[in-house]
Amino acid sequence: MTSPADRPHVLMMSEITADGKLTLKKGASSKILMKYMAHETELLLHNTRAEYDAIMVGANTIRIDNSFLTVRYVQGKSPLRVIPCSMADLPLDANVLGSDAPTAIAVCESAPQERIDAIKQKGAHVIVAGKTHVELPLLLKILKEKFGINKLMIEGGPTLNWHMLHDRLVDEIRLIHLPFIVGGADTPSLVGGMHINTEDEMIRLNLKKFYLCGSNLVSEFDVLYTKK
Ligand SMILES: NC(=O)c1ccc[n+]([C@@H]2O[C@H](COP(=O)([O-])OP(=O)(O)OC[C@H]3O[C@@H](n4cnc5c(N)ncnc54)[C@H](OP(=O)(O)O)[C@@H]3O)[C@@H](O)[C@H]2O)c1
Repeated sequence: MTSPADRPHVLMMSEITADGKLTLKKGASSKILMKYMAHETELLLHNTRAEYDAIMVGANTIRIDNSFLTVRYVQGKSPLRVIPCSMADLPLDANVLGSDAPTAIAVCESAPQERIDAIKQKGAHVIVAGKTHVELPLLLKILKEKFGINKLMIEGGPTLNWHMLHDRLVDEIRLIHLPFIVGGADTPSLVGGMHINTEDEMIRLNLKKFYLCGSNLVSEFDVLYTKK
């Protein structure tokens, strides 16, 4: 484990097509592609969730996929569900605000109080981490110190993945490879955000394991950040 002591160890886990995409097209739910995962891989995903203290996805994934983020296919405790949503504008009927598992919504200081109150009324924790947007390093520190989260997995989407990598907060990546090509220049891929300008900015990975899980290839990497 390479994570610094003041934040949880972080695993990024994702299903991706052979051309590196996360969905069929922009705005489509990843649940459509997930239907094609082998059952053994669904078990791997849910076993991983059960091993982790918390699971985080971006607010847009909740808006589009309306994910539950619970452990369902195996025995085990569902992790704390964490959603960064700067202005607290998550739909109040989102599945993550249901009572299946605990949830924390991370917001910034400018989030309207009435939205924060409405989220709290649904039984979720609200974490204020940042002035004008959610600052992920601060959020992870709070998760470790106040919620006792030592192991956090993130399941996308591309915007959250980019910010987490950019802030050097990801220790490991586990990819479930789906044997499809979907194409589309604007179809969400594993990492969104800004392009880099030089090869010095590439984030280097060390391939540590690859195996078949049912009919799906799974690959596992350590993230090797170089010193700034
Ligand atoms: N195949 C897979 O494994 C997989 C997994 C997950 C998602 N997906 C797909 O990915 C797509 C959604 O991805 P996306 O890139 O649009 O959105 P996303 O990464 O799910 O969410 C990004 C949003 O999170 C909120 N956020 C708040 N603070 C943030 C911070 N510090 N850093 C990053 N985000 C922050 C922002 O919304 P606010 O401005 O409202 O705060 C931001 O727009 C969907 O199509 C979904 O199906 C696929």
